[in-house]
Amino acid sequence: MEVMEAIKARRSSRSFLEKGIPEKIIDEMLEAARLSPSGGNGQSYRFGVIKDANLKEELAHAAGEQMWIAEAPVVIACCADISWDLLGLPEDDFGLIVNKLRFSEEFIEYLNKYPNRKSVKTLLANPTPLIPAEHMYLVAVSHGLSACFIGFLDVEKANRILRLPENMVCLFLLPVGYPKDDTAPKEKKSAKEITFCETWKG
Ligand SMILES: Cc1cc2nc3c(=O)[nH]c(=O)nc-3n(C[C@H](O)[C@H](O)[C@H](O)COP(=O)(O)O)c2cc1C
Repeated sequence: MEVMEAIKARRSSRSFLEKGIPEKIIDEMLEAARLSPSGGNGQSYRFGVIKDANLKEELAHAAGEQMWIAEAPVVIACCADISWDLLGLPEDDFGLIVNKLRFSEEFIEYLNKYPNRKSVKTLLANPTPLIPAEHMYLVAVSHGLSACFIGFLDVEKANRILRLPENMVCLFLLPVGYPKDDTAPKEKKSAKEITFCETWKG
């Protein structure tokens, strides 16, 4: 399937058939994640492949009781390594400079004073697994599978369920399976509504 075909066929599916996913497809999804871009090629994304029924059920509870998640034959835990901290970095550190540029010096100063380092690092790592997870999602669609991003998640609870070490966080879930029903495409804004040329002329 061509990339654009997969993009057009993609839906968020919330019910799945009781049919396992061939290992070859899961491997291909993980390979697509592995090849994805990351800031400074940091590759701090990590992915858990969860098939165990009890674990899937616990994760569904952690996702605000979205129990349909446990129906998926595979739930991908989209995680990030948060060993890196902004605190204590030399002034010329590239990561520190980039974050100050993006969010302002004052905000970074505020974050550096914030005592709960894990919260700060979790916030900064939030986008880390999203691009590789979307790669996985499109590969899954190209094989007739479907999925749904899950961001409504008690992250600390998910970390505990997956027995992640302190330097690892589970930021999103991606339940994957063969979709039960043909979900209608969601209405999307027109290209014109989401585009501007050169500068904003509002
Ligand atoms: C970052 C992110 C988090 C999401 N979290 C949830 C979620 O917790 N539960 C859910 O049912 N859908 C979730 N979704 C799916 C969106 O509701 C869905 O993408 C949106 O309604 C558009 O529908 P479509 O994906 O079929 O185009 C999430 C999507 C994204 C991108």
